[in-house]
Amino acid sequence: MTIGGAAAVMGWVILGFVSGAWGQTEVKPAGTAPVGGAGVDAEIVVHLDQKVKGISPDLFGVFFEDLNYAADGGLYAEMVSNRSFEYSAVDSPEWNALTGWTLVKRGNAGGRMAVQDAAPLNANNPQYLVLMATPGRGGAVGIANEGFDGMAVKAGETYNFSVFARCRPRERAALTVHLESMEGAVYASAVIPGVTTEWAKYSAALKCDRDDAHARLVVLTSDRATLALDMVSLFPAKTFHDRPNGLRADLAQAIADLHPHFVRFPGGCLTHGDGVKNIYRWKDSIGPVEARKGQKNIWRYHQSLGLGYFEYFQFCEDIGATPLPIVAAGVSCQNSDFASGTGQQCVPMLEMGAYVQDVLDLMEWANGPADSTWGAKRAAAGHPAPFHLRYLGLGNEDAITPGFKERFKMIFDAVRAKYPEITVVGTVGPSPAGRDFEEGWKLAEGLHVPVVDEHYYQQPKWFLENQVRYDKYARGGTKVYVGEYASWGDRMENALAEAGYMTALERNGDVVQMASYAPLLCNVHHVQWYPDLIYFDNERVYPTVNYYVQQLFSSNAGDGYVASTLKLAKAPGAGENVSFSAVRDSKSGDLILKLVNLSRRGLRAKFRLAGGGIGEGVARGFVLAGEEGASNPGDPRGKRDAAGGVMAPKGVEVKVGGAFEYEAPGDSLTVLRVRGG
Ligand code: AHR
Repeated sequence: MTIGGAAAVMGWVILGFVSGAWGQTEVKPAGTAPVGGAGVDAEIVVHLDQKVKGISPDLFGVFFEDLNYAADGGLYAEMVSNRSFEYSAVDSPEWNALTGWTLVKRGNAGGRMAVQDAAPLNANNPQYLVLMATPGRGGAVGIANEGFDGMAVKAGETYNFSVFARCRPRERAALTVHLESMEGAVYASAVIPGVTTEWAKYSAALKCDRDDAHARLVVLTSDRATLALDMVSLFPAKTFHDRPNGLRADLAQAIADLHPHFVRFPGGCLTHGDGVKNIYRWKDSIGPVEARKGQKNIWRYHQSLGLGYFEYFQFCEDIGATPLPIVAAGVSCQNSDFASGTGQQCVPMLEMGAYVQDVLDLMEWANGPADSTWGAKRAAAGHPAPFHLRYLGLGNEDAITPGFKERFKMIFDAVRAKYPEITVVGTVGPSPAGRDFEEGWKLAEGLHVPVVDEHYYQQPKWFLENQVRYDKYARGGTKVYVGEYASWGDRMENALAEAGYMTALERNGDVVQMASYAPLLCNVHHVQWYPDLIYFDNERVYPTVNYYVQQLFSSNAGDGYVASTLKLAKAPGAGENVSFSAVRDSKSGDLILKLVNLSRRGLRAKFRLAGGGIGEGVARGFVLAGEEGASNPGDPRGKRDAAGGVMAPKGVEVKVGGAFEYEAPGDSLTVLRVRGG
């Protein structure tokens, strides 16, 4: 239920959803006297006497894409950049195989480094570094890596180093590994005694004795030798859930704290790629990390695929979220080769059989028994039990061309035939309206695609004016996944415009199956898309105020929508909005009330929980309040930080009963849980 935006011009309004008239907006004049008498700005009636409408239990989740250094240089805890010497000008014009690496000489040492590809570690990872070391007496020569903008290390923490290495025939060499300051002060040290002539993996634990936000890794030898080095790696010992090849604990925790009901991955445009050769192939992202096939990232850097499908699925399981992998629908991004809208490339028809099989194999890999061909690979990675995949996204905001339609249908038909239990999520272009949107919907309805993915990045005003969007959608057919949305900013008014819109998503949770804000993560030194939900650098995580809106909705989602009416004494002004929703959570039995007040003034609200037999009690919840125009600290493009520091939810207790009053602060979102209401 919503009042504001366009409704403001109507003056006195009641906008409610009454008598089970789901999907219909009822707008009436509210009479001549202020509601509720003096001192009351709003009257809210929650119709506990009416039938609860079932809504999606998967409604709020997250959208993850390796954009803004979200995976490599972000969530993936690997601290070494270009660890396998595969960077190239294809990734980024200035890059080459030695980007990120420098030669280090100590004493009177001599030495050179080069890149070679003869007899590599494996064919997927063809290049490696060769260090020709002539250290001389007492000297040492080696290589240094500063990671992604310096490595943040902490005193007392352990970092796990590993490398694949070999020497030339008849040579043997020892390696010394340091964590160092940029000036060479040593914080941790380990020795790997005997590198031999065959590729082998060597590991060492480095216990750091200093805090430094800009440290580096140095690998040295004092032996005269020609060493081949590949997969030079450094991970914090403490990763999220202590997983090997794991995730950065603080960032993963920030995502876990959103309590997302699902995680969409690996993108975004990264999924359908910059040309068909760049389509994200899930099979390249599983198995031993040293054998994964990294490639260019469409966002103009490199994706190592160290964070691959196994790690994504495992993360989902660790945080209790449903995995939502998206595969390309046999076509690339329409913006491939900078062709802005006309660059879509199609997988050749002759190769489509194999492509479709790759998609089918994903279902077997995720859910098949441990003795099936692909289930065995999951089991070999340490997960014999199935991952319980329920959804598969097919396509990402593609241009709906004849080539797309043909390929989409081939893949969709094959998945539906072999895995009818999987809910396929189709795609309807990059915008909330227009040709691709309409063609996409036509195709989806024609094929009976269960869900389609809508995307929109718009001004806050659009979100206020479009709260009734899904009230107008037909029930009983294809449902909606709002896979990407954001209101072009991370100020308080953006967050509250999104919050108001989310109450409408709840109201329409019978037709909106899922929704995810996008993008999720952004490294403050590599902003490629703005705004984002969570900013980070190597040491810290900075949640936006929009993050807390997502968190409050996701942690307080229900599975039933309760009808309610809202009357306001005065129509909201331009840019203002009051929205309200009531949902039930059948697990806890709680009635959850959400009130959005996008206005600088406080809102005195009188509640009536009609017909519910609610006794006197205390509802607990949270208030997120802040100042319009302000962002949370950490936003690299923020114009002004909130005066009080971080705008974050604060606990609140409200005396409730069949009738009660509550004053929502100016510019706030309040969430209240009425126990067993
Ligand atoms: O979320 C950022 C980008 O926006 C996604 O990669 C793409 O799907 C959309 O255009």
